Amino acid sequence: MKKVNHRLHVIENRPLSQDVFLLTLGSENPLPDMKPGQFASILVENSGDVFLRRPFSIHDVDLTHNFIKFYIQKVGKGTEKLAKLTHHDSVDMIFPLGNGFEIKHETNIWLIGGGCGIAPLLYLAKALNQNNIRPTILMGGRSKKNILRVEEFVKYGNVLITTEDGSLGEKGLVTEHLIFQQIKDEISSPTAIYCCGPESMMHAVAKIAAEKNIPCQISLENMMACGIGACLCCVTKTKDGHQCVCTEGPVFEATHLIST
Ligand code: FES
Repeated sequence: MKKVNHRLHVIENRPLSQDVFLLTLGSENPLPDMKPGQFASILVENSGDVFLRRPFSIHDVDLTHNFIKFYIQKVGKGTEKLAKLTHHDSVDMIFPLGNGFEIKHETNIWLIGGGCGIAPLLYLAKALNQNNIRPTILMGGRSKKNILRVEEFVKYGNVLITTEDGSLGEKGLVTEHLIFQQIKDEISSPTAIYCCGPESMMHAVAKIAAEKNIPCQISLENMMACGIGACLCCVTKTKDGHQCVCTEGPVFEATHLIST
């Protein structure tokens, strides 16, 4: 898949909550093909000797109208800056980067996203729909304030929600949702799982998947700087040694990873 370095202009920058915003970027030129789970590296700071890029999962793509969306959480100066971009501003972006999810033509697929980990799952759900698969989508967050974009997800899958404080959906962690009981009781289980979110959540999901022999792809959110395999700040331990999340991932088979 060809990587490009483009200037894209801001079509819309919409706050979804106090901490999360949806950035829609467009281009006059046709956008390259992109796989769900790939990411883009956006230049967030270019002043003096500071030249800083940040990685963001591709949240949604429309190749007909040439736009791409990012679901971004404000976590520091760079993302605060992006949150302030307005219509007609533009950004420098390298994309698509990383390997992306491998689409399995299975019947019973679960997408599991915690917090901002839902970001890459919308485009994945859309791609699965194009293959006539309607996945089950488990969304988890601390409270209802962290469960966003449900109205989009329900277009592509059957959405189940958990919140730690019980303010929306079932109370508890995502892996405590009643549907997991079906796996434990061996009533039914997914034929494939795709997961992204906090490390503890991904760890818990990977453990259940391994116990029940369910193929599970995990999208890691390690800290990244260069995004192209040069700085080695993003490495993770795998059965093949240390691998760069930015070039060998961010998506890995859960069984390939070695948790520390
Ligand atoms: Fe630099 Fe991965 S971010 S090597």
